[in-house]
Amino acid sequence: MIKVAPSILSADFANLERDIGTVEKAGADWLHIDVMDGHFVPNITIGPAVVKSLRAKSSLVFDVHLMIDNPELYVNDFATSGADIITVHAEASVHLQRLIQMIKSKGLKAGVALNPSTPVNALDYIIEELDMVLVMSVNPGFGGQKFINSAYKKISEIRRLIDNKELSVDLQVDGGIEPDNVRQVVESGANVIVAGSAIFNSGNIPETIRILKGAGSSIS
Ligand code: DX5
Ligand code: ZN
Repeated sequence: MIKVAPSILSADFANLERDIGTVEKAGADWLHIDVMDGHFVPNITIGPAVVKSLRAKSSLVFDVHLMIDNPELYVNDFATSGADIITVHAEASVHLQRLIQMIKSKGLKAGVALNPSTPVNALDYIIEELDMVLVMSVNPGFGGQKFINSAYKKISEIRRLIDNKELSVDLQVDGGIEPDNVRQVVESGANVIVAGSAIFNSGNIPETIRILKGAGSSIS
């Protein structure tokens, strides 16, 4: 089963409650919340106060993607604001294993994200402790960028790793996914699809979510 996680980065920030209600009704599985600090990535977005306000308005799984330096300083704030999953970047933490344990100790699921140029072996020694791996298929910072094709190979390699070790780790892919390439992303091994601009700029949100979710339907 493919899960779809619309990224609210491309929603209308003056109408977040409305837009989240739309994707929830349309069958979105999770809500992908992109947190950017202007240091780890060249953009600034959402903080814990906004997550807390949205928590009162939605029962979707809150999938919080931290693109920030010093993520260990903010895990508690996002946990108490209502995050269900916190994903941190391998490149942002010197003590990644400790950070994963910190997230899990709050009762949350923990993910690790890899930038396009980060090798798969960054997951060595930690993948067994994870609930999710996030493959970035764009350089993080902005919505609406083009999918980087080298991500397909990385997705397949991580899928093999997960299956060989018989782990139940979600494999999420984020950046530049649209109806035209989602099938190849899923065939490469992803089971959670993030999409921002493809959903919110589509003009027909329910139909786009239906297409993205359907990408795995005839894959054995
Ligand atoms: C990029 C973010 C993504 C982004 C995806 O830094 O992590 O979640 O919003 O947007 P699209 O689907 O437009 O590439
Ligand atoms: Zn993201």
